[in-house]
Amino acid sequence: MTYPGFFITLEGGDGSGKSTQAALLAEALHTAGRTVVCTREPGGTAVGVEIRNIVLHHRGDISPRAEALLYAADRAHHVETVVRPALERGEVVIQDRYIDSSLAYQGAGRVLEVEHVRAVSEWATDGLLPDATVLLDLDPTAARRRLTRARAEYDRLEAEATAFHDRVRSAYLALAATEPTRFIVVDATLPVSAIASEIRRRVTALLAERA
Ligand code: TYD
Repeated sequence: MTYPGFFITLEGGDGSGKSTQAALLAEALHTAGRTVVCTREPGGTAVGVEIRNIVLHHRGDISPRAEALLYAADRAHHVETVVRPALERGEVVIQDRYIDSSLAYQGAGRVLEVEHVRAVSEWATDGLLPDATVLLDLDPTAARRRLTRARAEYDRLEAEATAFHDRVRSAYLALAATEPTRFIVVDATLPVSAIASEIRRRVTALLAERA
Protein backbone atom coordinates (compact mmCIF):
# COMPACT_ATOMS: atom_id res chain seq x y z
CA MET A 1 0.00 0.00 0.00
CA THR A 2 1.70 3.17 -1.21
CA TYR A 3 -1.23 5.58 -1.52
CA PRO A 4 -3.35 7.48 1.02
CA GLY A 5 -6.73 6.42 -0.43
CA PHE A 6 -8.75 3.25 0.10
CA PHE A 7 -9.73 0.81 -2.66
CA ILE A 8 -12.95 -1.19 -2.23
CA THR A 9 -14.24 -3.61 -4.87
CA LEU A 10 -17.62 -5.32 -5.08
CA GLU A 11 -17.90 -8.78 -6.54
CA GLY A 12 -20.58 -11.37 -7.11
CA GLY A 13 -22.61 -13.07 -9.78
CA ASP A 14 -24.82 -11.22 -12.23
CA GLY A 15 -27.91 -9.93 -10.42
CA SER A 16 -26.41 -10.09 -6.91
CA GLY A 17 -27.16 -6.40 -6.23
CA LYS A 18 -23.65 -4.95 -6.43
CA SER A 19 -24.60 -1.65 -8.00
CA THR A 20 -27.31 -0.96 -5.40
CA GLN A 21 -24.87 -1.70 -2.59
CA ALA A 22 -22.09 0.35 -4.20
CA ALA A 23 -24.41 3.37 -4.31
CA LEU A 24 -25.53 2.92 -0.68
CA LEU A 25 -21.95 2.54 0.56
CA ALA A 26 -20.86 5.60 -1.41
CA GLU A 27 -23.65 7.64 0.13
CA ALA A 28 -22.74 6.50 3.66
CA LEU A 29 -19.04 7.26 3.24
CA HIS A 30 -19.79 10.60 1.63
CA THR A 31 -22.01 11.50 4.60
CA ALA A 32 -19.12 10.49 6.88
CA GLY A 33 -17.00 13.12 5.13
CA ARG A 34 -14.98 11.01 2.67
CA THR A 35 -14.46 11.88 -0.99
CA VAL A 36 -15.74 8.89 -2.92
CA VAL A 37 -15.24 7.84 -6.54
CA CYS A 38 -17.68 5.23 -7.86
CA THR A 39 -16.59 3.32 -10.91
CA ARG A 40 -16.85 -0.05 -12.61
CA GLU A 41 -15.28 -2.61 -14.91
CA PRO A 42 -15.68 -3.14 -17.71
CA GLY A 43 -16.46 0.38 -18.89
CA GLY A 44 -15.07 2.86 -16.34
CA THR A 45 -13.43 5.01 -19.06
CA ALA A 46 -14.28 6.08 -22.62
CA VAL A 47 -11.98 3.36 -24.02
CA GLY A 48 -13.51 0.95 -21.53
CA VAL A 49 -17.03 1.67 -22.78
CA GLU A 50 -15.93 0.54 -26.25
CA ILE A 51 -14.28 -2.59 -24.86
CA ARG A 52 -17.38 -3.28 -22.76
CA ASN A 53 -19.48 -3.14 -25.86
CA ILE A 54 -17.33 -5.82 -27.51
CA VAL A 55 -17.08 -8.20 -24.54
CA LEU A 56 -20.71 -7.97 -23.49
CA HIS A 57 -22.65 -7.38 -26.68
CA HIS A 58 -20.69 -8.89 -29.56
CA ARG A 59 -22.87 -11.47 -31.29
CA GLY A 60 -20.87 -14.64 -31.81
CA ASP A 61 -17.88 -16.23 -30.14
CA ILE A 62 -14.88 -14.50 -28.64
CA SER A 63 -12.08 -16.91 -27.78
CA PRO A 64 -11.59 -17.28 -24.00
CA ARG A 65 -8.04 -15.88 -24.09
CA ALA A 66 -9.12 -12.91 -26.21
CA GLU A 67 -11.96 -12.27 -23.75
CA ALA A 68 -9.50 -12.35 -20.82
CA LEU A 69 -7.22 -9.89 -22.62
CA LEU A 70 -10.10 -7.52 -23.41
CA TYR A 71 -11.05 -7.34 -19.71
CA ALA A 72 -7.36 -6.86 -18.85
CA ALA A 73 -7.01 -4.06 -21.42
CA ASP A 74 -10.05 -2.29 -19.97
CA ARG A 75 -8.55 -2.73 -16.48
CA ALA A 76 -5.09 -1.44 -17.43
CA HIS A 77 -6.44 1.81 -18.84
CA HIS A 78 -8.96 2.24 -16.02
CA VAL A 79 -6.42 1.73 -13.22
CA GLU A 80 -3.89 4.07 -14.76
CA THR A 81 -6.26 6.90 -15.63
CA VAL A 82 -8.99 6.71 -12.94
CA VAL A 83 -8.31 4.42 -9.98
CA ARG A 84 -4.66 5.09 -9.10
CA PRO A 85 -4.97 8.89 -9.46
CA ALA A 86 -7.98 8.88 -7.08
CA LEU A 87 -6.14 6.72 -4.54
CA GLU A 88 -3.14 9.00 -4.76
CA ARG A 89 -5.42 11.97 -4.01
CA GLY A 90 -6.51 10.14 -0.85
CA GLU A 91 -10.01 9.29 -2.07
CA VAL A 92 -12.09 6.18 -1.48
CA VAL A 93 -12.66 4.23 -4.70
CA ILE A 94 -15.74 2.01 -4.75
CA GLN A 95 -15.56 -0.22 -7.79
CA ASP A 96 -18.06 -2.64 -9.26
CA ARG A 97 -15.91 -5.67 -10.29
CA TYR A 98 -12.13 -6.03 -10.56
CA ILE A 99 -9.49 -8.79 -10.80
CA ASP A 100 -11.59 -11.33 -8.87
CA SER A 101 -14.20 -11.13 -11.66
CA SER A 102 -11.55 -12.24 -14.15
CA LEU A 103 -10.41 -15.06 -11.87
CA ALA A 104 -13.98 -16.28 -11.38
CA TYR A 105 -15.42 -15.72 -14.89
CA GLN A 106 -12.44 -16.26 -17.19
CA GLY A 107 -10.63 -18.67 -14.85
CA ALA A 108 -13.36 -20.90 -13.43
CA GLY A 109 -16.15 -19.95 -15.87
CA ARG A 110 -14.21 -20.24 -19.14
CA VAL A 111 -11.80 -22.74 -17.59
CA LEU A 112 -8.57 -20.85 -18.27
CA GLU A 113 -5.63 -21.45 -15.95
CA VAL A 114 -6.45 -19.17 -12.99
CA GLU A 115 -2.81 -18.32 -12.28
CA HIS A 116 -2.34 -17.18 -15.88
CA VAL A 117 -5.43 -14.97 -15.68
CA ARG A 118 -4.13 -13.54 -12.41
CA ALA A 119 -0.69 -12.87 -13.91
CA VAL A 120 -2.20 -11.00 -16.89
CA SER A 121 -4.38 -8.86 -14.61
CA GLU A 122 -1.55 -8.11 -12.22
CA TRP A 123 0.64 -7.04 -15.13
CA ALA A 124 -2.20 -4.88 -16.47
CA THR A 125 -2.63 -3.09 -13.15
CA ASP A 126 1.03 -3.03 -12.14
CA GLY A 127 0.04 -5.02 -9.07
CA LEU A 128 -2.74 -2.84 -7.66
CA LEU A 129 -4.87 -4.95 -5.29
CA PRO A 130 -8.02 -3.91 -3.41
CA ASP A 131 -7.84 -3.02 0.28
CA ALA A 132 -11.24 -4.68 0.76
CA THR A 133 -13.52 -6.76 -1.43
CA VAL A 134 -17.23 -7.23 -0.75
CA LEU A 135 -18.54 -10.52 -2.13
CA LEU A 136 -22.32 -10.61 -2.50
CA ASP A 137 -22.96 -14.32 -2.49
CA LEU A 138 -26.08 -15.56 -4.26
CA ASP A 139 -27.31 -18.81 -5.72
CA PRO A 140 -27.23 -18.39 -9.55
CA THR A 141 -30.78 -19.67 -9.99
CA ALA A 142 -32.13 -16.98 -7.65
CA ALA A 143 -29.98 -14.40 -9.43
CA ARG A 144 -31.32 -15.41 -12.81
CA ARG A 145 -34.89 -14.97 -11.58
CA ARG A 146 -34.06 -11.39 -10.53
CA LEU A 147 -32.35 -10.62 -13.83
CA THR A 148 -35.09 -11.92 -16.09
CA ARG A 149 -37.42 -9.56 -14.32
CA ALA A 150 -35.06 -6.60 -14.58
CA ARG A 151 -33.59 -6.73 -18.10
CA ALA A 152 -34.35 -7.59 -21.66
CA GLU A 153 -31.02 -6.65 -23.32
CA TYR A 154 -28.83 -9.51 -24.57
CA ASP A 155 -25.64 -10.00 -22.55
CA ARG A 156 -23.08 -12.69 -23.59
CA LEU A 157 -22.01 -13.54 -20.06
CA GLU A 158 -25.48 -13.58 -18.55
CA ALA A 159 -26.61 -15.88 -21.33
CA GLU A 160 -24.16 -18.59 -20.19
CA ALA A 161 -25.55 -21.83 -18.80
CA THR A 162 -26.25 -22.40 -15.12
CA ALA A 163 -23.17 -24.66 -14.78
CA PHE A 164 -20.98 -21.71 -15.80
CA HIS A 165 -22.54 -19.50 -13.12
CA ASP A 166 -22.25 -22.28 -10.53
CA ARG A 167 -18.50 -22.47 -11.25
CA VAL A 168 -18.25 -18.68 -10.93
CA ARG A 169 -19.96 -18.75 -7.54
CA SER A 170 -17.74 -21.56 -6.21
CA ALA A 171 -14.64 -19.78 -7.47
CA TYR A 172 -15.60 -16.59 -5.64
CA LEU A 173 -16.20 -18.48 -2.39
CA ALA A 174 -12.84 -20.24 -2.76
CA LEU A 175 -11.06 -16.92 -3.35
CA ALA A 176 -12.75 -15.46 -0.26
CA ALA A 177 -11.69 -18.46 1.81
CA THR A 178 -8.04 -18.02 0.83
CA GLU A 179 -8.03 -14.29 1.64
CA PRO A 180 -10.36 -13.86 4.63
CA THR A 181 -8.91 -10.50 5.66
CA ARG A 182 -9.50 -8.86 2.29
CA PHE A 183 -12.94 -10.36 1.65
CA ILE A 184 -16.22 -9.37 3.29
CA VAL A 185 -18.70 -12.08 2.32
CA VAL A 186 -22.38 -11.16 2.61
CA ASP A 187 -25.48 -13.26 1.95
CA ALA A 188 -27.15 -11.44 -0.96
CA THR A 189 -30.60 -12.85 -0.11
CA LEU A 190 -30.80 -10.64 3.00
CA PRO A 191 -32.83 -7.42 2.77
CA VAL A 192 -31.04 -4.58 0.97
CA SER A 193 -30.84 -2.48 4.14
CA ALA A 194 -29.36 -5.33 6.21
CA ILE A 195 -26.69 -5.97 3.57
CA ALA A 196 -25.92 -2.26 3.39
CA SER A 197 -25.47 -1.89 7.15
CA GLU A 198 -23.23 -4.97 7.38
CA ILE A 199 -21.00 -3.65 4.56
CA ARG A 200 -20.94 -0.17 6.12
CA ARG A 201 -19.98 -1.58 9.53
CA ARG A 202 -17.10 -3.69 8.16
CA VAL A 203 -15.75 -1.00 5.82
CA THR A 204 -15.94 1.71 8.49
CA ALA A 205 -13.90 -0.51 10.83
CA LEU A 206 -11.24 -1.04 8.14
CA LEU A 207 -11.06 2.69 7.40
CA ALA A 208 -10.67 3.42 11.13
CA GLU A 209 -7.80 0.90 11.35
CA ARG A 210 -6.10 2.65 8.46
CA ALA A 211 -6.50 6.17 9.89
P1 TYD B 1 -22.28 -5.88 -15.86
O1 TYD B 1 -23.33 -5.39 -16.77
O2 TYD B 1 -21.35 -4.95 -15.21
O3 TYD B 1 -22.97 -6.85 -14.94
P2 TYD B 1 -23.25 -6.98 -13.44
O4 TYD B 1 -24.35 -6.02 -13.15
O5 TYD B 1 -23.65 -8.40 -13.36
O6 TYD B 1 -21.95 -6.67 -12.77
O7 TYD B 1 -21.50 -6.97 -16.69
C1 TYD B 1 -20.25 -7.35 -16.46
C2 TYD B 1 -20.11 -8.75 -16.98
O8 TYD B 1 -18.76 -8.96 -17.33
C3 TYD B 1 -20.47 -9.79 -15.95
O9 TYD B 1 -21.20 -10.83 -16.57
C4 TYD B 1 -19.14 -10.33 -15.51
C5 TYD B 1 -18.26 -10.10 -16.68
N1 TYD B 1 -16.84 -9.87 -16.33
C6 TYD B 1 -15.92 -10.86 -16.62
O10 TYD B 1 -16.27 -11.92 -17.15
N2 TYD B 1 -14.60 -10.65 -16.34
C7 TYD B 1 -14.15 -9.49 -15.78
O11 TYD B 1 -12.93 -9.33 -15.52
C8 TYD B 1 -15.12 -8.46 -15.49
C9 TYD B 1 -14.69 -7.18 -14.87
C10 TYD B 1 -16.45 -8.71 -15.78
